[in-house]
Amino acid sequence: MIGYSGAGKSTLIRLVNGLETHETGDVIIDGQNIKDLNENELNRLRKRIGMVFQQFNLLETQSVYRNIEIPLLLEGKKNKKEIDARIKELLSFVGLEDKYNAHASSLSGGQKQRVGIARALATEPDILLSDEATSALDPDTTDSILKLLQRINKELNITILLITHEMEVIKQICDSVAVMKEGAIIEAGPVAQVFSQPQEADTKRFVATVIDNQIPEATLKQLVSTNIVYKLTYFSNESNQSLLYDMNQQFPVKTEILSASVNELQGHILNIYNLKFEGEEADIDALITDLQSKEIKVERVEIDD
Ligand SMILES: Nc1ncnc2c1ncn2[C@@H]1O[C@H](COP(=O)(O)OP(=O)(O)O)[C@@H](O)[C@H]1O
Ligand SMILES: [Mg+2]
Repeated sequence: MIGYSGAGKSTLIRLVNGLETHETGDVIIDGQNIKDLNENELNRLRKRIGMVFQQFNLLETQSVYRNIEIPLLLEGKKNKKEIDARIKELLSFVGLEDKYNAHASSLSGGQKQRVGIARALATEPDILLSDEATSALDPDTTDSILKLLQRINKELNITILLITHEMEVIKQICDSVAVMKEGAIIEAGPVAQVFSQPQEADTKRFVATVIDNQIPEATLKQLVSTNIVYKLTYFSNESNQSLLYDMNQQFPVKTEILSASVNELQGHILNIYNLKFEGEEADIDALITDLQSKEIKVERVEIDD
């Protein structure tokens, strides 16, 4: 979930873990509408959900061990040996095995978040809610926490509902994205789809923060309205591997690259080019028809004088 501050992201996450109630609409988790659940069923559902916070929310006066032990005790675990083993296993997973006896207040921000994540995983949830988990961290630490979240998703098979105001976070680890504004979801879909074809103005703004497909100002200044400029958007595949070479070989159209951007999105390569064409109208038309047949989205870019 992405949205500017005040969009309603935290409120939405509080609806999912039942800390907030809704007046309209439905909250459906794993096919279960939470409106239909009684108190017992709701508690069972809550136990399947773990939560990671922006400010870590650790008990600062307690040890790392104690912070992770508490949810296990609350769950009814009593066997000291089992609890010890579980805490060691969790700390090893998050890369903090040596901090077993450390005091929470002695840890760095990144380490605190790792403890926060270990605590959230203690009771083996199926769903992890993460509200701005990396917003209080520096870029390198953010990277390592995002990699940890990705491992949790892939290795432990845990669904993560991740909230952020940074598109870079979505680009790095998310499969799907929903954009929130004024308490509502305005656009949603797979990351590759939303990043390549954003529909709403706000979505376009978010995408532009991580995918630069603008023609540089200095280049724009030199263009005139009679110039023929097209924007090409496509995912790399076998039919377009040697695109520029094929264009040159098959069509007598002079092609100048005004901007080029190549981005990896969940293993797919998204290419966005702004190209200036010079040539006979019929040749340019034939070139565009050929591009479209290769699953390339081609849009005319209007140039102002
Ligand atoms: N769907 C909604 N209906 C009514 N009030 C909402 C709704 N979504 C958010 N709010 C209110 O808007 C404010 C900001 O919401 P919050 O969830 O904290 O935003 P964010 O986490 O995106 O910064 C809060 O006061 C919240 O109660
Ligand atoms: Mg918030």
